[in-house]
Amino acid sequence: MAGRRALVTGGASGIGLAAVRRLLADGADVVSVDRCPPESGERACPYLTADVTVAADVTDAVHAAAALLGGPADLLVNAAGIYRIRPLLDLTPGEWDEMLAVNLRGTFLAGQAFAGGLVAAGQPGAIVNIGSTAALVADASEPTAHYNASKAGVVALTRQMAAEWAPYGIRANVVCPGVIDTPMLRLMDDPAAGQAYLETGVPLRRLGSAAEVAAVIVFLGSADASYLTAAVIPVDGGSTAI
Ligand SMILES: NC(=O)c1ccc[n+]([C@@H]2O[C@H](COP(=O)([O-])OP(=O)(O)OC[C@H]3O[C@@H](n4cnc5c(N)ncnc54)[C@H](O)[C@@H]3O)[C@@H](O)[C@H]2O)c1
Repeated sequence: MAGRRALVTGGASGIGLAAVRRLLADGADVVSVDRCPPESGERACPYLTADVTVAADVTDAVHAAAALLGGPADLLVNAAGIYRIRPLLDLTPGEWDEMLAVNLRGTFLAGQAFAGGLVAAGQPGAIVNIGSTAALVADASEPTAHYNASKAGVVALTRQMAAEWAPYGIRANVVCPGVIDTPMLRLMDDPAAGQAYLETGVPLRRLGSAAEVAAVIVFLGSADASYLTAAVIPVDGGSTAI
């Protein structure tokens, strides 16, 4: 990834932070964008504070990142996201709107600002959005309809980005993680149920790590994936197969 300029949303924690670390290790220049400071005070790369639901925040961050990187970013990783458990019958319109705003609107805003900069500069690039296996399968024991809908939206949005922006040399793919060991996962505070799920619902019978997702993200952003666009790639230990 030497010579590549990457912008990572949600880069302060979990999968986004792992992508930042892997991109840096592979030689890219990276700027992280998040609404919070980096986890454990880690300052792996320059970071910007922005709320991905706010259009002005996002465009400002994309411009500031270009200044820090010495040109428009040519890789965008959209990892900012939230997760909440709420049975459908209890779900409020406000909870629905908040979920869609962060996970789907945020991905749209960052993708549009990023692609706009590349098209204006006449440069190619790649987008890797983070969906979820929740976009692909339902689970009554994990009531997260608003999350699932937001991630299904990310899948559809990614395919449309790929279709509309291919003429500009911009590829767009979506990674759908399964159960990954990050601070977000630790919101699900039922270790016994979690272990039972791993044993019956995940062929590889363990959690994934953020680094394992980051490896796929970086591959999709790299020249090795030059003929891959509009792909939906589960990184889930096989959970969507059974
Ligand atoms: N951990 C899992 O098991 C798992 C599974 C499937 C998908 N995902 C997805 O992976 C992505 C990363 O999740 P994670 O597990 O690393 O979670 P995480 O909570 O560790 O990281 C999410 C990051 O997004 C940031 N963020 C949230 N709202 C934001 C906003 N409005 N503006 C800017 N930044 C914001 C947070 O501050 C945080 O740093 C998310 O999209 C999540 O839905 C995670």
